[in-house]
Amino acid sequence: MKFTLAATVAATVVSLVAGADLDPIVVKGSKFFYKTSGKQFFIKGVAYQADGSLQGLKTYIDPLADAASCKRDVPLLKELGTNTIRVYAVDPTKNHDECMKLLQDAGIYVVSDLSEPNTSINRDTPQWDDVVYARYTKVIDALAPYSNVMGFFAGNEVSNQKNNTAASAYVKAAVRDMKSYIKQKKYRTIPVGYATNDDADIRLNLAHYFNCDTADNSIDFWGYNIYSWCGDSSFTKSGYDQRTKEFESYSVPVFFAEYGCNEVSPRQFTDVKALYGDQMTGVWSGGIVYMYFQEANNYGLVEVKNGAVTKLEDFNNLKKQISAVNPTGVSMSSYTPTNTKLSDCPKEGADWMASKVLPPTPNQSLCSCMTGGLSCTAKSSVKTSDYAGVFDYVCGGKADCTGINGNGTTGNYGAYSMCSPAERLSWAMDAYYKAQKSSSTACDFNGKASLQSGAAIADTCKSIVQEAGGLAGTGTVTSQPTSSSSESSDASAIVPTLQFGGYKIASAVVAALVGGVAMVVV
Ligand SMILES: *[C@@H]1O[C@H](CO)[C@@H](O)[C@H](O)[C@H]1NC(C)=O
Ligand SMILES: *[C@@H]1O[C@H](CO)[C@@H](O)[C@H](O)[C@H]1NC(C)=O
Ligand SMILES: *[C@@H]1O[C@H](CO)[C@@H](O)[C@H](O)[C@H]1NC(C)=O
Ligand SMILES: *[C@@H]1O[C@H](CO)[C@@H](O)[C@H](O)[C@H]1NC(C)=O
Repeated sequence: MKFTLAATVAATVVSLVAGADLDPIVVKGSKFFYKTSGKQFFIKGVAYQADGSLQGLKTYIDPLADAASCKRDVPLLKELGTNTIRVYAVDPTKNHDECMKLLQDAGIYVVSDLSEPNTSINRDTPQWDDVVYARYTKVIDALAPYSNVMGFFAGNEVSNQKNNTAASAYVKAAVRDMKSYIKQKKYRTIPVGYATNDDADIRLNLAHYFNCDTADNSIDFWGYNIYSWCGDSSFTKSGYDQRTKEFESYSVPVFFAEYGCNEVSPRQFTDVKALYGDQMTGVWSGGIVYMYFQEANNYGLVEVKNGAVTKLEDFNNLKKQISAVNPTGVSMSSYTPTNTKLSDCPKEGADWMASKVLPPTPNQSLCSCMTGGLSCTAKSSVKTSDYAGVFDYVCGGKADCTGINGNGTTGNYGAYSMCSPAERLSWAMDAYYKAQKSSSTACDFNGKASLQSGAAIADTCKSIVQEAGGLAGTGTVTSQPTSSSSESSDASAIVPTLQFGGYKIASAVVAALVGGVAMVVV
């Protein structure tokens, strides 16, 4: 009862603060529409996220929690003809009412990434675990009540070359689970998609993979980060013609999740005319210009110094182009989708290494049940930098780590592969201890482990742990693993990597940002 009441009060507060709610955006077939008016919605977007590290901050700046900046910037976004902003990292513990109201009042929708630099799916050592799951769901909880939230990205440019396509299995699991979470929480149907990069080797397989097998497992929209129209290019020279052809029969909306090549600067944005013109609007739902803030990577529309904002030439150029286009599209009622078929999943091989069998849904209660039953567990003081050594040692031949390993290529996932790095560390220590026949010296790891007194699987846990195959965690493994050689992958998964917007960036800048906090890293 208490919970229901609190939820109702929270919802009321949000709706009061939000004032005149914007007509929500809905998906029908491969297009977006305003729910009530039924008019087709074309994204005229701008990426809006300042890089905290450039301001000497240790963490990201939540662009929707900084009311002073929103007050300063929303009128400028409106002047640009913007109807959508993309934000890359929001802090779910902060209050977003003021910025969201300013955006509402300006007719601006928000599409938000769910990750943040330290909590995202790593392309080289992918995990879809209960830590990332908790972060994603909290962001959804924070933003779902606002009617002008039009979508979520479950990942941005995660697989970006042939050798890391296996990571896409983990991102697709995130898509599946966030769609299901939104349903389970009875939120408005907010679509969940992905923002891809434009790597020629994998872009088609990526698009098909994320939209194959079952609709429940697939993206609701496809965001394309594209920088191939540079200077005064053309529909054919830029490859926009080919990309348009490739998505002709795609079954969900596609749009540019980032665009605006800056090889020729200032940018003229002559691609705007193409993107919102007859050749493209049948297939694409507009795009998002990268980006609002001028930073080291030179993609800005405005420069902010000491809190004051100056329009750059790019700002005026974009404004001119956007104000000259006015796509109308079709109305929702007159539109009968013809592209209703999902894609075929790409065949696995040298060019594509992600199985259509996806990792399990992270389940914190199952992981707690499991750790409760371990005889030997990690001390909470163990530093994350020490995890890799333990995983390498234990799983490199001392014990069978099938229960915590996952492999996006074979589609084999241990039942506890979705537990947090700390939970998997305890699992590994316990596996070693048991492999050593519970010898009195085997639960130590140089003082990092200790015996858990009263270790037991709680009564309330018994059936779910049994389903998981007991503490061994082999219960949800979908086919027999051929080996358990992925330990180093698991071990290094705890090292954070940054993979956010900012497609083109000087490598010197990358070097300067890595190790600090970067919002813009390839
Ligand atoms: C990421 O984690 C590191 C280490 O815990 C911390 O110093 C840094 O501030 C975090 N960065 C962000 C963006 O939260
Ligand atoms: C892919 O290759 C890059 C070098 O181009 C390497 O740094 C990375 O670790 C590789 N990733 C995987 C998953 O093999
Ligand atoms: C975790 O698993 C239990 C038992 O199967 C289930 O009741 C619960 O809903 C699951 N939680 C999530 C977040 O999926
Ligand atoms: C996944 O399994 C394949 C095939 O057995 C293997 O080549 C690959 O190295 C494994 N990947 C990881 C991350 O363990």
